[in-house]
Amino acid sequence: MKNILIIGATGQIGSELTMKLRGLYPNGNVVAGYIPGAEPKGVLLESGPSAVVDITNPAQIAVAVEKYKIDTIYNLAAVLSAVAEIKPQLAWHIGVCGLFNVLEVAREKKCAVFTPSSIGSFGPGTPKVLTPQDTIQRPTTMYGVTKVTGELLSDYYAKRFGVDTRSVRFPGLISYATPPGGGTTDYAVDIYYSACKGEKFYCPVKPGTFMDMMYMPDALRAAVEIMEADPARLIHRNSFNIASMSFDPEMIYDKIKEYVPDFEMEYKIDPLRQDIADSWPDSLDDSCARYEWDWKPEYDLDAMTKDMLNHLSLKFQEHLHAEFA
Ligand code: SER
Repeated sequence: MKNILIIGATGQIGSELTMKLRGLYPNGNVVAGYIPGAEPKGVLLESGPSAVVDITNPAQIAVAVEKYKIDTIYNLAAVLSAVAEIKPQLAWHIGVCGLFNVLEVAREKKCAVFTPSSIGSFGPGTPKVLTPQDTIQRPTTMYGVTKVTGELLSDYYAKRFGVDTRSVRFPGLISYATPPGGGTTDYAVDIYYSACKGEKFYCPVKPGTFMDMMYMPDALRAAVEIMEADPARLIHRNSFNIASMSFDPEMIYDKIKEYVPDFEMEYKIDPLRQDIADSWPDSLDDSCARYEWDWKPEYDLDAMTKDMLNHLSLKFQEHLHAEFA
C-alpha cells in the first residue's frame, strides 16, 4: 500500500493515523479525507494532500480514489455508541450505507479497505470474559448493529468480489491528541483530562464496569499491521479481536492517584452509557490476531497512564501560558 485515502481523517483515530501513515509511506499520497466543518489544520493540513470526502457521497469517494490513484482506503467514519442511540438513523446511514459506498468504489477501483469494528459488536448474550474470536454477536445498540453489519458486508465483498477487506475490533481508545466524542468508553479519556486540569472527575459508569481499552499507539500499529499482514496466513478478516488491557473505573482512578495523589472522583451514573457498557464484554480473547498476524500490544495501564499524564500536563501548561501571555 502506498496511496492511501483516510475517510474521517480529522477524527479521533484519523488525525493520528494519517500522520503515522505519512511517516511510513513518505513517497505515496496519504490523503486526509474530511467533511466540511471538520477541515484538517496545522501539521495535518500541511504534511500532505487533503480532499472533501463525505462517506455518504459515493461520487466524492470515487473522485478522490481516481485522482490520487488510491490503493487502500481507511474508513474511519462512524457515529460512536452513545450518540448512535440518540441518532440511530444517522448511525446506520454513516456506518452501513457509507461502508457500502466505500466497498462499491473499492470493488470498481480495486482498493483494499480497512473498517474498524468494535467491542460494541458484541451483546448481552456473548460470553463476557475472554470473549472468543468467533462467538455470538447479537448487540442491543445501534452502534453494535452497524458494526456487525459492517463485518458481514466486508466479508461478503471479500468472498464475492475479491475486495481485500480487513478489520480489527477496537476496544475503547485512549489518546491525548484528539478527543473522542459520544462513546461509552470515553470516560477513560476524560478522567485524564480532569486529573491534569486539577478538577474532580464525575464518572458516568459504576465501579465494577469492566471494558477493554487500548492506548492509541497500539491501536494505530494494529491498523497498519493488519493491512500489511501476509494474506496467506489470514483465516479471519472481518474482524479480529484485539486487546491490551481491561479495567473498571476504580482501577484507572487508583492508577492515576499513584501519580496525582489529590485527584478526586465521584460517581454520577449516566443510565444510557451504563446500559451500553453492561451489554459489552469485560475482556476479549485476541489469540487469533496474535496467531494469524503476530499482534502484540505494548502498553499496559501503568505505561499508558504515565504517558497520558506527561503529554496532557504539557498540553495544559502550554494552554495556560498562552492564556496568560
Ligand atoms: N469507543 C467506542 C464507544 O464507546 C467503542 O468502540 O462507542
